[in-house]
Amino acid sequence: MSRTSLTARRMMVVGGGLILGAAFALSAKSQTAPAAAPPAAPAAASPSPARLAIENRKAVYTLIGNNFKPLGAVLKGSPYDAATIQKSIARLVFLSGLLDDAFPEVSNVGEPDTKAKPDIWTSRADFDKKTKDFQTHLIALQVLNDTDKEATEAFKTAATAIGQDCKACHDAYRVK
Ligand code: HEC
Repeated sequence: MSRTSLTARRMMVVGGGLILGAAFALSAKSQTAPAAAPPAAPAAASPSPARLAIENRKAVYTLIGNNFKPLGAVLKGSPYDAATIQKSIARLVFLSGLLDDAFPEVSNVGEPDTKAKPDIWTSRADFDKKTKDFQTHLIALQVLNDTDKEATEAFKTAATAIGQDCKACHDAYRVK
């Protein structure tokens, strides 16, 4: 046996021992790692389906509220700005469509997490009709506004109807 090959064999033995040692250290570490992890961290990282649905609809209603403001201002006598009103109505039409699946059963958890009354789920057909009316009235307002492009009496009547949709639904289905 040559000197070179003997050295090579020694290196293989030593190297193999190192690899085995490292593998043992790794497996020992992976066995003890879960016990060392902080408890409940994974649960805190992912919100429940109820929380997600509630956060979602609150965000949608917040935007609906913000985008209804320019219409409410015109109803109270502020000047009508065509571009602002057209944009607000287009946003409201889009946002109102997001309400179709904003109230899943799982999100009927009551206060303090949500102001949505449990009646929404026991009077589902009526609640869905109120949402549908809101959407229909917004589209009617959009059609009218695209033609008139000013604060006509017809525009004011249609915008007032939207405000009444907000109030009717809040009176029946939102905790005060
Ligand atoms: C078909 C029913 C319905 C209609 C129509 C409706 N809302 Fe609401 N709104 C609700 C309910 C229910 C809540 C409570 C949501 C919750 O707390 O989970 C709510 C909550 C809100 C909130 C509070 C959001 C938050 O962060 O807590 C605002 C602002 C709001 N609505 C504005 C409006 C405005 C403005 C209109 C009309 C342009 C309107 N809503 C139309 C049912 C309705």
